[in-house]
Amino acid sequence: MIELDTPALIIRKSIMKDNLMKMQKYADSKNINLRPHTKAHKTPYLANMQIELGASGICVSKLSEAEIMAEHGIKDILITTPIASSVKFKRLVELQKNFPSLVLYQVVDSAYHVEQIDSFSKDKSVIINLVVEVEAGQKRCGLIPDENLKNLIDLINQKEHVNFCGIQAYSGHLQLVQNYESRLSEAAQALNPIKRFFKDYKIEKNEIIISGAGTGTFYASDNSFFSEIQCGSYIFMDKAYKEIMKPNDSDNINFGNSLMVLSTVISKPAHNRLVIDAGMKSLSIDHGMPSVFDLKGVTYRCGGDEHGILDIEDESMNLNIGDQVLLIPSHCDTTLNNFDDMYLLDDNDKIVKSLKISGRGCSQ
Ligand SMILES: Cc1ncc(COP(=O)(O)O)c(C=O)c1O
Repeated sequence: MIELDTPALIIRKSIMKDNLMKMQKYADSKNINLRPHTKAHKTPYLANMQIELGASGICVSKLSEAEIMAEHGIKDILITTPIASSVKFKRLVELQKNFPSLVLYQVVDSAYHVEQIDSFSKDKSVIINLVVEVEAGQKRCGLIPDENLKNLIDLINQKEHVNFCGIQAYSGHLQLVQNYESRLSEAAQALNPIKRFFKDYKIEKNEIIISGAGTGTFYASDNSFFSEIQCGSYIFMDKAYKEIMKPNDSDNINFGNSLMVLSTVISKPAHNRLVIDAGMKSLSIDHGMPSVFDLKGVTYRCGGDEHGILDIEDESMNLNIGDQVLLIPSHCDTTLNNFDDMYLLDDNDKIVKSLKISGRGCSQ
């Protein structure tokens, strides 16, 4: 019995620490920087832990996450999503102004971003570092690596209050490709046009940041290309990622599931059906249903916002109202965002620390 009210987000501390150390060791062995994406945990304490273990800085998705991380002492932050309103441009330059020693990078992909950020920076007498997002197959943000990209880099270089620092090339569409070999070759192919661009326009890649890759592709990508990797989910792992990792591959790193949702059985309407107190508002299902930890023949099905249904193969199984059940989410990022706190447990299921998820709800 874990001494917590439910639903609750629990973290197996030793598994999480092991995941963090393995990824850092991998980056060190390849001589590249690890800049973990903290959208996975949104928690300054964990970001500081990653930095202490050797990460060069962090990524955040949103400006509001950057503000929280800076307030908690993080000194090197890349905002991986473009911003596009005067409220945001103002906040960005204020963040830099308020934390002069913060090394802050903002991702952009248009002349509009550059002009606006340059103009707002001028007003506050700061210089903002820019990283240009380049299309790497996902067809989300990012410029195709051609003359337009070169023109944007030139524009940044002409402006006084912004600084061209490098590119971001993230192939989000490949992270969950099931087959390891396909993932490997597609991740390498996605970078070819960018490599050609560097060659054609004689851009010296050693002098700039080249940031990309996630938990699904960091070992499959051509890492000699990236100067830093942006993996995030490896800290917790989730069911979707765990299923596509290739346990016997020598390059693979076997990260463990460190994050789970603790829930309680609230009803047993039939011998083969139980209801738990964790529905869609606790466990996201965008990557499929969570799996039930350590209970054979028990499967989770969504029972609505607040209910989860467990179907039981063996009707004689001794699982009853009041019992606790642990679920491994299919997608950690969207699950964690449902909770205000997380609880770190030791190997004996004792709570050793509770952490505020300070970036929870920071979607602006
Ligand atoms: C731009 C960017 N970089 C890195 C990541 C981290 O990827 P993962 O959590 O799959 O490791 C994400 C995740 O969505 C992302 O959007």
